Amino acid sequence: MPAAPVRDPGAWQLVRDGCRMTLCGPVADGALAIDLDLAQGPLSRRLRQARGDDPLARAVGLGKAATPPRLVDATAGLGRDAMTLAHLGCPVLAIERVPALAYLVAAAIEGTWLARNLTVRLGDAVAMLAGLADANRPDVVLLDPMFEEQGNAQVKKAMQACRALAGPPDDPAPLFAAARRAARERVVVKREASAPPLAGEPSFAVAGERVRFDVYLAPPR
Ligand SMILES: C[S@@+](CC[C@H](N)C(=O)[O-])C[C@H]1O[C@@H](n2cnc3c(N)ncnc32)[C@H](O)[C@@H]1O
Repeated sequence: MPAAPVRDPGAWQLVRDGCRMTLCGPVADGALAIDLDLAQGPLSRRLRQARGDDPLARAVGLGKAATPPRLVDATAGLGRDAMTLAHLGCPVLAIERVPALAYLVAAAIEGTWLARNLTVRLGDAVAMLAGLADANRPDVVLLDPMFEEQGNAQVKKAMQACRALAGPPDDPAPLFAAARRAARERVVVKREASAPPLAGEPSFAVAGERVRFDVYLAPPR
């Protein structure tokens, strides 16, 4: 991808400053700026404070498994959930269909400890999950297709950026169906705490602070 010689205030751009990569929105749209800083700030704190008994980790089955589950995060977005799980030891393939977001996450983890466990791929997760060879099917598929306003100001700002780039949410049914077919063990769907389940009653749910993780266990084979 060619580098622009100067910042264009009318366009979305990825701006590199040393090892920090920032996604900058058009000034006319409020100049959203999202950076994935692994050295300091909220993301770095979130990773340092992550524990194996956190709701997300419990929902993917991290606590119980003898070895960390292999995951596909099919809605990578800004990669925070994928990074958290990779930091906790899970091999994660993160799929994101918006090029700027996929590139931002890939650039943020490049050369860091997270790159050992986390791979970022640009593409449509419905097609990519369907195309997985049997040997590459993950234990767990994580879905976070929600776009509602949620959480604190930082989270809202990040969601605004995701929404502005990703456009309106589409029907999540094909993604859920592809996830169900691909996951050997479970599909985990992240929802706002008060939102109804995405795809009927889950096997069980794990409550987080502001969100809920609905867990759909694969039927026994
Ligand atoms: C709410 S964000 C995910 C936030 C993410 N959990 C995080 O920790 O930053 C949802 C993302 O899913 C992506 N997405 C939705 N459907 C997708 C699909 N079929 N394939 C790939 N990405 C998809 C959107 O582009 C958007 O960036």
